[in-house]
Amino acid sequence: MSSGHDRPVLPETVLVAGGAPLGGELRVPGDKSISHRALIVGALGEGTSLVRGLSDGDDVRRTLDAVAALGAEVHDDGEVVTVTGGRSFLHAPLGPVDCGNSGTSMRLLAGLAAGFAGVTVLVGDASLSARPMDRVAAPLRAMGAKVTGNGLRCLPPLTVNGASLEGITWAPEVASAQVKSAVLLAGLFAAGETSVREQLRTRPHTEELLALADADIEVADEGAGRTVRVRSSPLRPIHVVVPGDPSQAAFWIVAACVVPKSALRVRGVYAGETRTGFLSVLRRMGARVRLDEGAPGPAGEGAGDGAGAGAGTGVGDGDGAGAGARARAGAGAGAGAGAGARRGTACSSVGAVADVTAQWGPLSATVIDASEIPSLDEVPALAVAAACAVGTTRFVGMGELRVKESDRLRAVARLVDAAGARARIEGDDLLVEGVGGAWGAGGLAGAGDAWGAGDGGGWKGLRHFRFDSEGDHRMAMAAAVAALAAGPGESRIDGFGGVATSYPAFLAHLRHVGGHARVQLIAIDGPAGSGKSTVSRAVAERLGLERLDTGAMYRAVAWAALDRGIDPQDAPSVAELAHEALIDPGPPDVVIDGAVVTGAIRTAEVNRAVSAVAANPSVRAALVERQRAWAAAHGGGVVEGRDIGTVVFPDADLKVFLTAAADERARRRRDEPSDGVARRDELDSTRAASPLVQAEDARLIDTTCRSVEEVVDEILSWLR
Ligand code: CDP
Repeated sequence: MSSGHDRPVLPETVLVAGGAPLGGELRVPGDKSISHRALIVGALGEGTSLVRGLSDGDDVRRTLDAVAALGAEVHDDGEVVTVTGGRSFLHAPLGPVDCGNSGTSMRLLAGLAAGFAGVTVLVGDASLSARPMDRVAAPLRAMGAKVTGNGLRCLPPLTVNGASLEGITWAPEVASAQVKSAVLLAGLFAAGETSVREQLRTRPHTEELLALADADIEVADEGAGRTVRVRSSPLRPIHVVVPGDPSQAAFWIVAACVVPKSALRVRGVYAGETRTGFLSVLRRMGARVRLDEGAPGPAGEGAGDGAGAGAGTGVGDGDGAGAGARARAGAGAGAGAGAGARRGTACSSVGAVADVTAQWGPLSATVIDASEIPSLDEVPALAVAAACAVGTTRFVGMGELRVKESDRLRAVARLVDAAGARARIEGDDLLVEGVGGAWGAGGLAGAGDAWGAGDGGGWKGLRHFRFDSEGDHRMAMAAAVAALAAGPGESRIDGFGGVATSYPAFLAHLRHVGGHARVQLIAIDGPAGSGKSTVSRAVAERLGLERLDTGAMYRAVAWAALDRGIDPQDAPSVAELAHEALIDPGPPDVVIDGAVVTGAIRTAEVNRAVSAVAANPSVRAALVERQRAWAAAHGGGVVEGRDIGTVVFPDADLKVFLTAAADERARRRRDEPSDGVARRDELDSTRAASPLVQAEDARLIDTTCRSVEEVVDEILSWLR
């Protein structure tokens, strides 16, 4: 089995510019709650289930690994996840199942594990190990399973000893979709009927998926509550497309509402009543939001209309700003539709799915009660809408926000203030006094020139800002939306890396719809042995940035010249080679015209030849152009070389010039004779074309007798 792909790394600092309208359409990552359940119900189906558009977050990956450990065969090709299972395949795992930080995984898997013989041990990380499992343990015990954990509240690790279960009627005191799901899953293995009666309807995804798998299930709504009954019966494999996560769609919908002259369509979003309260709030604020329900889901029974497929692929295959391979599956469900059609498999969407269209327009303040948006996940985005509205919006009963990934109540207030609107916390309420945006004093009259360029009035909306999300993914994304709405100018968002846990393709999507985002560009120059490579590698890693070793490009051309018997001094021939060669500077490997030369470019022969090659102005022109193209494609990055701060990127955000005492540099370059290093230094420093010199505005660091960590810390301190 394969559990997919490594987590993409996103930059810690992102610079987002306003001043550009947003347009087009996109798909957000697959819904997390539905993704977990699709994997588990898929594992129970007798045969092979197909799941497209699975969430690319770490939590869902835990469930994917877990169902494999329980005996299902799982394969993830980056677009489609197949789960081959059936009751007789499932068994207690050989070792503990690690649920990471995912409470959903642990609670749902406890229900599943209760159904088969043997012991299943579910473990979690430190934070999950502090979360009580008693509400799940109690009904499972009542059904006949042995469930043990630590202490009265049954903290993980959780040990589930499966048994022959008896159906029960369970009415949880606190409405919880996870407890309901665990009981229903166990109920699939129990004798007789199992029913769960909830006072308040919670997310219905387990019911939806079980119905799709032809389970013997009945659902009855009673007022605000619901009763779900199941009986044991074989399940059919499911072919599902996980609809888009509404809490992620909220960022784009709000962005369309607040960025002047914008219109966006988010396709294939889960639109069930328990998840779309934020849309009602926006409508009440006057937002132009339209829901096209019944729109074909991402795969629309394999119909996959062309526009959707195109947009999905285009978005997902973003420009390397961090869109991971799994992100391709989440964002590019349209592409999955094509694959489905090819394989002749019909896929159903889970629950109500809609395309949501939103347009810029005037917003007015409202009162928002916590019960309208039960998880409060959309509050950061709604706060940005409130910051752009006319009047003061009151968010009532937001206490729970204090215990999210950060103290989100304080963080939202900080963001609103930073962007030029006013926030106040009163007890558990949050008040946001909006700036009114381009709709403020000028009203609709200003709309013709939304950015205020022509009316002499200037920009009246949010202003650009600096904000630290402190690693909270939703705060970072909300800040990006505020930055897009903040008129011309660039906002700086720190702590952006956390976005990788829930929406790795966010930046690629932002660019896809016309937003401008970049990362910092850091130029590191210096002579051989000054520590450039080590330091730039470490700086890139700490900042979540890509790194370009321009020396490797010159070395690759020198290697290719020698390989083809071209004299390195033969300027026209080497120049021709440099212009025509295809060079991939890596990482991981340096490749020139298909030859992997990672090791070969570090030989004595190349050392001797490279300075002459690098002194050739035409070679430099060819390589500098590619270096600039690399930075444009990555939106910035760490670039090391000898002329980066002076010639290639004179406008870099930070320029560093490294040096070290000659004898220390020679010691560090033991692979190269010291007179060779000295000769290269001499040639590099005295050549006419882009000689090695410190840029006037570069910071100089002498790395002699200093640890890499010290040097890196100093460089990072200059970025603060
Ligand atoms: O590893 P070391 O610092 O010795 O050199 P490198 O970065 O691999 O670069 C090898 C050679 O390429 C240098 O000696 C320069 O002649 C040339 N180079 C350059 O001219 N301009 C750059 N931006 C990078 C390297």
